[in-house]
Amino acid sequence: MIVVTAGRPQKPDETRLDLVVDNAKIISNIMKEIKNSGFGGIVIIASNPVDVLTFVAQKVSGFATNRIFGSGTILDSSRLMFALGEHFKISPTSVTAYIADEHGDSSVALYSKAIVGAENLMTLKKNQLINDETLKSIHKLVIQKAYEIIKLKKATHYGIGVCLARIVKAVLNDEQVILPVGVYLNGEYHQKDIYTGIPAVIGSNGIERVVQLDISEQEQFNGRIKFC
Ligand code: 2OP
Repeated sequence: MIVVTAGRPQKPDETRLDLVVDNAKIISNIMKEIKNSGFGGIVIIASNPVDVLTFVAQKVSGFATNRIFGSGTILDSSRLMFALGEHFKISPTSVTAYIADEHGDSSVALYSKAIVGAENLMTLKKNQLINDETLKSIHKLVIQKAYEIIKLKKATHYGIGVCLARIVKAVLNDEQVILPVGVYLNGEYHQKDIYTGIPAVIGSNGIERVVQLDISEQEQFNGRIKFC
């Protein structure tokens, strides 16, 4: 397996997308070398903006889309589970929740699919244990997290590092586990020829399959993910 993290780091006043021109050149050069080396394994891209750069990496290398994918929204989802755990005063390991779509400012929180303990988050909302305003502020907090860390210590390291290690372990152990990574959509969610953060089954083939979620209308925050 190869994990690509190369790229110019994000400055405090930049978004991840501001890195695209500089980092697309770096990723293209790296992928040309990997392709010419005859590498036949799995490539994970973590460089930002990760969704766009994974697309560039796949086009330059021509690798099958199951064996080249991005870190996607696995880190955003971890941040979301942590924040929901804080709200309900439980361990984040007892929360399953996904951020989808862009690893960045236009991500989507798939709250209708979130489970806290054994309870659907929407049931907890109905029982007034959380409300829409809090959910919106939690999503905002997740989006802001990277900017906060970059302001304090110039880059984020450990969060993405732990997430990448989790993905590598899932591939090497053929776990068939569902993780929200940057997958190639070829018609799923009415999207074609893009990479974006979506839960997928991860195993020794890389992306074993994309999970088809029945995403409800109110989660279509930015129109990129079409509800089924
Ligand atoms: C992060 O979200 C900067 O994309 C990096 O930590």
